Amino acid sequence: MKGLVLSGGKGTRLYPITFNRAKQLVPVANKPVLFRVIEAIRDAGITEIGIVIGDTGDEIRQAVGNGRRWDVNITYIRQEAPLGLAHAVKISQDFLGDERFVMFLGDNVIQGGISGLIQQFANSDWNSQIVLTEVEEPQHYGVAELDENRRIVRLIEKPRIPPSNLALVGIYMFDHHIFEAVNSIQPSWRGELEITDALQWLIDHGYQVYPYIHRGWWIDTGKPIDMLEANNRVLAELTHKVEGYVDRDSKIDHLVTVERGAEIINSVIRGPAIIGEDCRIVNSYVGPFTSIYHHTIIEDSEIEHSIVLDHSRIIGIPSRIEDSIIGRDVEITYSPIKPKAYKMTLGDHSRVGLL
Ligand code: G1P
Repeated sequence: MKGLVLSGGKGTRLYPITFNRAKQLVPVANKPVLFRVIEAIRDAGITEIGIVIGDTGDEIRQAVGNGRRWDVNITYIRQEAPLGLAHAVKISQDFLGDERFVMFLGDNVIQGGISGLIQQFANSDWNSQIVLTEVEEPQHYGVAELDENRRIVRLIEKPRIPPSNLALVGIYMFDHHIFEAVNSIQPSWRGELEITDALQWLIDHGYQVYPYIHRGWWIDTGKPIDMLEANNRVLAELTHKVEGYVDRDSKIDHLVTVERGAEIINSVIRGPAIIGEDCRIVNSYVGPFTSIYHHTIIEDSEIEHSIVLDHSRIIGIPSRIEDSIIGRDVEITYSPIKPKAYKMTLGDHSRVGLL
């Protein structure tokens, strides 16, 4: 079997964090979401992985490389424009050949990996298997309608009146018949070749498409709130590991990771939380569900339920920072110089909530 990871798209809903970076490379619990996807595929025993890239392709190539780090071989497939998930399959035909494959959206995080699913599909003679999960707002997803035998009857993309609460998770298994489907369907109203339409084509033409109901959590990290939610979920599953330096005046709670080279001085870290390589946390409080990526400094400040990316500095902030996503090389400092005022240099699409 092969793996196909879709890693194009502009990530506009995560602006400004993704203004100049690929959304799949935003870290969740200090590891880019795309790396988690590659690991899930590798852990299921697949070593040939194609990554479909778009405008942010150079950055993705640079971060991922040839895959040797994970003992896999990566092939990059360039998609000229974001013309849909089924279009991504179409342009990957040379790479995929006649092999069965799993397609995984590069911005999805799923609990428990995909080994069980891969095994079930590998041992079957089904043409496709799709992962479904119960969601609260199915109208935002592809939705499946099942019959009384739990077989798929119909799939609809973002229905106004959803026939069920079973959403298509961004993980799909196919055999080579999917190429017939993607070559037969027409673009949808949003101008994309929809994978949902390709699946419906398979069903309508008598091919066997089976569901796999996922019971754990699953998050499509499209929006800031989803990113924080994914961060919460992954942090809660990490084990306690302190590799950096913690001085005697600091207190480190349970479920805290302190990575190599990090220094915790006179501070309280309450887990689940992760402090990245070479960070400095001084006279500060880092609360639950917080990820601080590498080379960031936090001094005389309090932060909780947030993600801070690398090389940022948060110094002397009198109120606690919460529910925030702070980008790379961002500086937030107390400004004692008169006039007493908020002084900001914010990029396009920034969001600031002031007290
Ligand atoms: C895509 C699929 C949709 C699926 C969703 C999962 O939607 O078209 O069927 O439920 O991913 O994340 P998109 O994110 O392109 O709107």
